[in-house]
Order: sequence, then C-alpha cells, then structure tokens
Amino acid sequence: MELSIIIPSYNEKDNIRPIVRRIHEAMGSADISYEIWFVDDSSDETVQVLSELVTEDERVNVHHREGERGLASAVVRGFKLARGRYFIVMDADLQHPPELLPAMYERLKQGTDIVIPSRFVEGGSDGGLGPFRKLVSWTARVIGQLALHRLRRISDCTSGFFGLQREVVEGAELDPIGWKILIEVLVKGHYRTVHEIAYAFLARDAGESKMSMHEQWNYFRHLVRLVSQSPSDRRFFLFCIIGASGVIVNELMLTILLYAFHMKDTPASILASLVAMLNNYIWNDQITWRSPREGRKWNVKLPLFVAISLVGILITTLVMHACERIGFIVPVGQAVGILVSTVWSYVMNNKVTWRETEHRERGDIVVTRESAPTAFTRVKSGV
Ligand code: GDD
Ligand code: MN
Repeated sequence: MELSIIIPSYNEKDNIRPIVRRIHEAMGSADISYEIWFVDDSSDETVQVLSELVTEDERVNVHHREGERGLASAVVRGFKLARGRYFIVMDADLQHPPELLPAMYERLKQGTDIVIPSRFVEGGSDGGLGPFRKLVSWTARVIGQLALHRLRRISDCTSGFFGLQREVVEGAELDPIGWKILIEVLVKGHYRTVHEIAYAFLARDAGESKMSMHEQWNYFRHLVRLVSQSPSDRRFFLFCIIGASGVIVNELMLTILLYAFHMKDTPASILASLVAMLNNYIWNDQITWRSPREGRKWNVKLPLFVAISLVGILITTLVMHACERIGFIVPVGQAVGILVSTVWSYVMNNKVTWRETEHRERGDIVVTRESAPTAFTRVKSGV
C-alpha cells in the first residue's frame, strides 16, 4: 500500500460521497495504490452513509468511535490504522481540494518528509473563512509561532490538510488536545524537510463548521502542553520570565538605594541594574540552563553573561533610535529594542555562556515552497 488518506469526520452526511468521488477522480489517472480511512465520531446519518460505502467501495475503510470526540485524536487513531507508506490528512467537507492529492503524493515520493498545502504562500488564499474567523485564525497562528520555534517558518501551521512519510509519526508520542494535529506533528515528529504548496481554502457546500470557542481554549491548552514538553521552547519562556523578574528587582533595589541609603541617581541606577543582572544570572543558571553534570565555573559564566547583557543594552538603544528615526515615539522604539535584545541575549547565552549544558537541539529544518497552478482552483461540485 502506497498512500493512506485519513479523514476525520463528524456529522458530514452530505459530504462523504462527494469527497470519495472527488478523491477517486483526482487519483484516477495516477497509478497509485491507495486507501481511504474515515475516523468517524458522527451521531447522525453519516454513520449509515459510511457503512454503505464500505460495502460498495473496497478502498474505503471506516473506524467509528462511539462516545468519543476530537479531531486531533481521530487523526492519531488514523495513523495507527493506516497501512500506507505515506499518509495524507484532510477534512471531509471538501474545503481541502482533493485535486491537490497527486501533487502532494509526488512530493512525498520524492522524499519530502512533510508536505503542507498552504493558504498563505503566493497563489494561495483563505477565502473560505469569514473576516472574524480569519482574525481568530491569524491570532492563533501568531501565538503558536511565538510559543513554538518549530512552527515559526511554517506558513500554515494550523492547517488540517497535510501529508507525511509514515516514519515522521511512527514512534512519536502523539498526545494532542483538541484540533490542531499538525502542530503536534511539527513539534514531536521526526523530520527534516517540509514542502508547502499554495492552495485556495474555499467555502463549504454542505454542513457547517464545528469550530467553537471551546476549541480555541483547547488550542491554548495544547500550546501550553507542547511548550512545557519541548526543552528549547520552555527554556526561552523561562528566560523571558526571569528577565521580567529582573525588572522588578531593578526597581525595588533602586527605590531602596534612593530612599533608604540616600544615594545619588546615577550610581543608584547603575547599582540597581547590576543587582538585577546578578538576579537574572542566578535564576538562569539554576533553572533555565540547569545542567545535569558539572559545567563551567561561575567565574567564566558570570562575566560572559554580563558582557552579553551590556551589548543587549546597547542594542536596545540603537534599535530605539532607529525606530525614532522612522517616526515611532521613544517608548515604542524602546519596546521593540527590548524585544530584539531579549532574543539576542537568549541566543548568545544559549550558544556561549551555557554552551556546555546539554541541549539536544534537533538540527535545522529545510522549508521549500511552491505556488500552485490555477488548475487546482476548485470546480463547484454538483452536490
Ligand atoms: N472524527 C472527528 N471528531 N472529526 C471531527 C470532529 C470530531 O470531534 N470535529 C470536527 N471533525 C471533522 C469535520 O467533520 C471535518 O471533516 C474536519 O474535522 C474539520 O472540521 P470543520 O468543522 O470543517 O473545521 P473548519 O473548516 O472550521 O476548520 C478546518 O480547516 C482549517 C484550515 O485548514 C480545520 O481543519 C482546522 O483545523 C483548520 O485550521
Ligand atoms: Mn471545514
């Protein structure tokens, strides 16, 4: 078996037959052995439609889950049932055009680990969503990409449409919450290459979306879980929290020096900053980059940390001035500067100061893109 097409379905009675037909049409010309797996949680006539289809069409398989829900866990179940060398996951409602399947298969066969049709590369569109859903979807993506570095270069990381080599998820401990199976795969899967293909996400013909506020909340919980399970993302998060704690220490120290010790402004400000730096160093050494074995001594790490922080201050000021020059007010420029210098300090401390701490960072991922020919634009099906 070459290809397994995995389709999670929940109350999609009017879409099941059309999608199977369109998959066969799309795959028709290609000489590929494939199977279709519906992982179904429906409570309506979809169940009957599917059981009829299984007897008529040998390529169709159904796994019905009773009393269970969840798009992502349905797909994980699909991964276990599927027999193909390659897996493609898509929605049942035809918002993901089956006409793209041969191109995705081709890429997988050429050895690409993960293929993701994308609404956000040149030639793609997300016209199938209303303005409110677009905004929610955009916010969700940005938050995800800030939280998890593995999503950062993937333009459509919350897509429900993607293909992968079986090996990407074989042996990976997938444990998603809610809907976004792709973020789980991108964080925990074993892969090196990702290829994106532009496509147009169009409106539904039949049935309605099952997206809800509750699923947004699940997405947030899922992100928190993934950050806590991914050492490098957790480390950056801790670094930021400790940095924020440094601001409080700085202000507190300044107040004490000014009002209890009657120090002059400038020395008080400098001393307060130094104490804050020491505070940050200690917490980062104990928590962020806590090393299981003996690493370097503090008399090497502390000066490095201080030097990196001082350059960070310089960067903040330079960025602030640059922002001011293009018309931003100083506090906004300073905020941008702090952002840039935080990333700078994190990267440098990770690479230099605590380089001996065991980070088992996975190597770089290669992402390629292609804009789809207009031939993939959907022809309205006569449902
Ligand atoms: N088995 C199962 N169980 N399937 C489900 C469940 C469930 O609890 N909930 C939804 N599904 C199925 C639907 O039947 C459909 O095939 C697919 O999952 C997507 O559900 P929709 O309700 O159509 O979602 P959407 O169109 O709003 O959003 C989809 O597209 C976005 C863009 O690619 C989802 O795939 C999103 O995750 C994705 O970001
Ligand atoms: Mn949909």
